[in-house]
Amino acid sequence: MSQSDKMWDATTYDNKLSFVSELGKNIFELLEVQKGEKVLDLGCGTGDLAAIIQDRGAFVHGIDMSESMIQQARQKYPSHTFSVADAQTFSTPEQYDAVFSNAALHWMKQPEQTIASIWMTLRSGGRFVAEFGGKGNIHAVYQAVVHFFERHGMDAVERNPWYFPTIGEYSGLLEGQGFRVTYARHFDRPTPLAGGEQAIIHWLNVFAAPFFTDCTAQEKSQAFEEIASALEASLYREGQWIVDYSRVQFIAYKP
Ligand code: BEZ
Repeated sequence: MSQSDKMWDATTYDNKLSFVSELGKNIFELLEVQKGEKVLDLGCGTGDLAAIIQDRGAFVHGIDMSESMIQQARQKYPSHTFSVADAQTFSTPEQYDAVFSNAALHWMKQPEQTIASIWMTLRSGGRFVAEFGGKGNIHAVYQAVVHFFERHGMDAVERNPWYFPTIGEYSGLLEGQGFRVTYARHFDRPTPLAGGEQAIIHWLNVFAAPFFTDCTAQEKSQAFEEIASALEASLYREGQWIVDYSRVQFIAYKP
């Protein structure tokens, strides 16, 4: 199991956090996939969106850094193509018509490298279509994590695995590479979690795990209980956790 895999629990991701793929379907409208197109799904997780795009007649190659996510994707969709790969360094002789990414770019803290890799994989005229966390995404959760570490005399900032840029910052990086950004939008999308009172603990277990790679399982679970109590006043209403998501979507063309 690789270092990145210790952070990912593909089963919890599928069973408790299926909203990630569900909400990702919104950007199909931006992708406007055509039959016969070759599409790279960057950060494909357990493959649900790649499978839908393929059902629409495209050939899809899904890549993800997590071996357990890719293992689960292959089990669910055995006839589809999935590989373990880091999007920040990915290279392929294949030329794709489109690169698609849902809820993955905010894990890629070297955006210039990611964008350069994507540029190389696209044919001229190809498009990069994505949605991910923008500036202010999960602000309340992030603040609760920072305060937790402060209370325990540690620095959360150096552990932070997330990258939530402004729309201007990311568009600037895309343009710096040579992309033509034809659409960009930054919007708040408060996101309800299924699973009642424990839902935020499941969320933290999957998404906040990289802050805690040097902690024991017991320390981590105590930390999550503490963070959850701190968040209750702002994010828990009438038996429902609603997380303060804020998303960026864009379409960028390689001329
Ligand atoms: C998100 O999809 O917005 C997200 C994922 C992981 C950590 C934080 C936010």
